[in-house]
Amino acid sequence: MTDAARPRVFVSRRIPEEGLRLVAQATQVDLWPDDLPPPREELLRRVAGVDGLLALLTDRVDDELLDAAGPQLRVVSNYAVGFDNVDVPACTRRGVAVGNTPGVLTETTADLAFALLMAAARRLAEGYDYVRADRWKTWGPLLLQGTDVHHATLGIIGFGRIGREMARRAAGFDMTVLYHDAVRASPEDEAALHARAVTMDALLAASDFVTLHVNLTPETRGLMDRDAFRRMKPTAIVINTSRGPVVDQGALFEALRDGEIGGAALDVTDPEPMRADDPLLSLPNCLVVPHIASASRATRARMAEIAAANLLAGLRGEPLPAPVNPEVAPRR
Ligand code: DGY
Repeated sequence: MTDAARPRVFVSRRIPEEGLRLVAQATQVDLWPDDLPPPREELLRRVAGVDGLLALLTDRVDDELLDAAGPQLRVVSNYAVGFDNVDVPACTRRGVAVGNTPGVLTETTADLAFALLMAAARRLAEGYDYVRADRWKTWGPLLLQGTDVHHATLGIIGFGRIGREMARRAAGFDMTVLYHDAVRASPEDEAALHARAVTMDALLAASDFVTLHVNLTPETRGLMDRDAFRRMKPTAIVINTSRGPVVDQGALFEALRDGEIGGAALDVTDPEPMRADDPLLSLPNCLVVPHIASASRATRARMAEIAAANLLAGLRGEPLPAPVNPEVAPRR
């Protein structure tokens, strides 16, 4: 195929070679070269006339962008499992197929969520700061006492793929596992995962650790608000690897400051990036990392392969391997 006959695509950031190579072999690719996302104006300019867009969760894909792209746009492939940055109904109305990267990041994300749980429980960030500040003078019976993870109660809010992986990890620590989800798991799954469905209130009241694994929707925005924190144990720790706006951060700050809960560990914030002068970072019992839950080399490479496969299938007019709106008929 001559270069001019190949479909035009915009890739809004450098993704791992495993996916980029596949895209470059089959398309005329315009790759945004910077480490930072394209500014909005630039994004709108670059998508004009493209047949496909490989987007990141930092790109808002909405009517404005779809207008700027034009009616020839066939596919938006989001390099993430979450797709709250994409106005899916708007894409569906225009016959634009949307793809995401489910499955491959499930365990990697659960690994990080469990690492955050353990780090917050055993105050690892505080311990590291203590050593670096040369404050370590002797072994101390009262020094940096934390919370036991083993035999504690884990409350999982959102019992999808990642939530269930948390239950598996909890089994290794003999934890009691409670979950809350709009959809109840089958009795077989509950038995296999040693997990018990409870109301949100019961989960908040009983859990030593509350871990969030819901999609961001109008219903889950601000789910963890002042009232939710007041229902938790004063020693409990909240972990968020879902999306920042699921937690009301002002309420979280007050709950941590006032001792209504014991700690927090966040992979996601609202907004992102969190600035260094954010009040939450002034609290020793709040650990924050920069949205890295899926960031293992192997997983990011697999995400790139799936994102490329979605993009190329959409361009060929074939069903996407991982579709978000499968009702959209493929267009050639
Ligand atoms: C996702 O995929 O939605 C994560 O937030 C980034 O991997």
